[in-house]
Amino acid sequence: MYATTGTRVGVLKGRHLNAENFSELCRLFSLTGKTALVTGATGGIGEMIATGLAKAGADVIITGRNRDTLDAAVQRIGPFGACRGVHCDVSTPEGVDELASRIGTESLHILINNAGTTWGAQFSEFPDKAWPKVMGVNVYAPFMLAQRLHPLLASGASPADPARIINIGSIFGVSTDVASAYSYSASKAAVHQLSRVLARDLCADHINVNAIAPGYFPSRMTAFISRDPELSEQVEAAIPMGRQGGPDDIAGAVIYLCSRAGSYVTGVVLPVDGGRLLS
Ligand SMILES: NC(=O)c1ccc[n+]([C@@H]2O[C@H](COP(=O)([O-])OP(=O)(O)OC[C@H]3O[C@@H](n4cnc5c(N)ncnc54)[C@H](OP(=O)(O)O)[C@@H]3O)[C@@H](O)[C@H]2O)c1
Repeated sequence: MYATTGTRVGVLKGRHLNAENFSELCRLFSLTGKTALVTGATGGIGEMIATGLAKAGADVIITGRNRDTLDAAVQRIGPFGACRGVHCDVSTPEGVDELASRIGTESLHILINNAGTTWGAQFSEFPDKAWPKVMGVNVYAPFMLAQRLHPLLASGASPADPARIINIGSIFGVSTDVASAYSYSASKAAVHQLSRVLARDLCADHINVNAIAPGYFPSRMTAFISRDPELSEQVEAAIPMGRQGGPDDIAGAVIYLCSRAGSYVTGVVLPVDGGRLLS
């Protein structure tokens, strides 16, 4: 699809979009004028989401714990739209408070709780420390962020144009396939339920809360799969669509939920998994 002059403003696979239809498409999906925060967007799914939001017109703020990787991600996203980084650790109350104080805008329209971590070990060897670490980043952080950023989210929200929180869960919060990632799968199930409870409570403040449950996407977290051709083949064979997810798959779902198009949707857990949960 591209913009031209005259009444034919876009071409999609040879079919022409007239000016009215093109502007209706923009009205439904554009995020111009919105400010969005994406946690842990120094790579992987977070960077895919932040890039998609920037392309859709939002002013994007990303977080990361390492200044160099954060700066590098801002440089990569920058050509697609407005993006700045805030260096912080969202898994601690101090980090979240610092982030809240450094947002620097009167309103925040979109919060994407993406930062996440995992731990894999056999049942008998699963260490105690894998519980507070994983639950801290995956569950406690999204709750703290929703709570501390609530005034900023509520201030820009209205019944016709609610603020949005999207928590990144996982298909492993639904399926029992990952027997050795005990705290991870429990944390992701908790993220899904937390999203539903927050959706109910925050409706009155015009804040929609949804979760996305991704399937297999390339990232640092899943690098152990992509590095191993045999394992990659096995993982992709278990996906009915036969492929891993990519930037358009996750960004498209997020843009839908954050735009006018998704403004009547709250409390859902949306699998974006190529049909993995069906198999
Ligand atoms: N990739 C998949 O197939 C898949 C599938 C289902 C769900 N997910 C979920 O998608 C989200 C993104 O994961 P990813 O796969 O893109 O992995 P990733 O590339 O490892 O990204 C995870 C991000 O979380 C941040 N993070 C990790 N620990 C943190 C901590 N203690 N405090 C603050 N930030 C922390 C990291 O940021 P810094 O290290 O820069 O601080 C990093 O940018 C996670 O919630 C993950 O559970 C991924």
